[in-house]
Amino acid sequence: MQTSQGRGVWGSRMGFVLAAAGSAIGLGNIWRFPYATGQNGGAAFVLLYILFVILIGAPVMIAELAIGRNTQLNPVGAFRKLAPGSLWTVVGMLGVATGVGILSYYSVIAGWTVGYFVKTISGEFSTIIAKDISQQIFENFVGNPYSAVGYLFVFIIFTAYVVVGGVSRGIERWTKILMPILFILLILLTIRSVTLNNAAEGLVFYLKPDFTKITAGTVGNALGQALFSLSLGMGAMITYGSYISKRDNLTISAGYVCLFDTLIAIIAGLMIFPALSFVGLKPEESGPGLVFVLLPSIFAEMPGGFIFGAGFFLLLSVAALTSTISLMEVTVSYMVDEWKWKRVNAVIVMSILAFLLGIPSALSTGASGWFTDLPLLHMGFLDLANALLGNYSLTIGAFLISIFVAYKWGLKSVFKEIELNQNIFYFNKFWAFMVRFICPVAIFIIFVYIVITGEYF
Ligand code: PHE
Repeated sequence: MQTSQGRGVWGSRMGFVLAAAGSAIGLGNIWRFPYATGQNGGAAFVLLYILFVILIGAPVMIAELAIGRNTQLNPVGAFRKLAPGSLWTVVGMLGVATGVGILSYYSVIAGWTVGYFVKTISGEFSTIIAKDISQQIFENFVGNPYSAVGYLFVFIIFTAYVVVGGVSRGIERWTKILMPILFILLILLTIRSVTLNNAAEGLVFYLKPDFTKITAGTVGNALGQALFSLSLGMGAMITYGSYISKRDNLTISAGYVCLFDTLIAIIAGLMIFPALSFVGLKPEESGPGLVFVLLPSIFAEMPGGFIFGAGFFLLLSVAALTSTISLMEVTVSYMVDEWKWKRVNAVIVMSILAFLLGIPSALSTGASGWFTDLPLLHMGFLDLANALLGNYSLTIGAFLISIFVAYKWGLKSVFKEIELNQNIFYFNKFWAFMVRFICPVAIFIIFVYIVITGEYF
């Protein structure tokens, strides 16, 4: 469907919810959430994460959707329209730049999932493999420059292909079919995982909070994870909101997206932690390789593990794809709206840029010593990008967006936008209180806390 300006519109409310949930649900839930939980002390981190989804994530999501639907523009254009001639457009630009940056390293990990799908169907994991061997296979794979860069390339091409198709024809159609299948598969794997030997140990770590484990870093990471997982703080939801029909109730849509996204993350944890204790790995030592090292060992233990393994990595690739699509769409909509570029040209330029920017990340897991262990920082390029863009930039973005709606654009304008066509703004008092006080103040305190304690990464 097209509007009079030739921009796309979601075909239906369900179409939007699934597409936005597709943006939110991705590697953030299944790859990042479990290892972040492992590194940050388990259940206490999970509670903080859920708290941040409710207190900060959901209110910021409503704010972003309202900005997007009101202006029907990309993040830069949206801020310019609502606050002409002010510095607020910089927030939009920061968002667009963050989007390109996240797209570049995210596609590297997404490329690994495609690689693992290929490995599974070629039978590499069909016999039972010990965790050390699984670790070795992973390191060899991500340390090989040809496969790391090659799969990055492949993934960007997939993303470009869907984004060229546009909003309802490309993005919406795909997500509608594939997201429900992922959900079912995840449930089946979780059932297998919680019935493994030693499952209880992992479940205790995941579900029984130990509040002594909370530090400044844990709190900052939980907030960063909540925003990353919900695709907030960089305008992805402004962009997706710009395609929502004026008839839809934004609060209901936002509620569904937050609910689905959090549910999938929690289920992914239920799948990972019992398996971790079964294989004998320590959660604290988990890192970005976690799902890739762990899961092949479980598939080998399952009847029909080959099918489950192949299905899992395939659908994880798809979940990642529906997220990279939204990342690319932010910049593409910016070029189309602001520079009046043709969609195809914008997609081509963005793909080349994201690919080039992704190369240092692709080489930072062993292929190049320099990128793997950056001078002075002593961390890999990918980890650095993940911390700076995936945590801090989104946190700053969410802070500024809440200030913008509360104090610049104004609560009244948001209410008007949401209540169009007699729609009810559910929890409106809660929302107003959150964006005026809790979001800005809490984010500010957390930031200062991290800086003072020096727990940046
Ligand atoms: N939310 C996505 C995920 O969980 C990642 C993402 C972040 C997508 C920011 C768009 C914007 O995988």
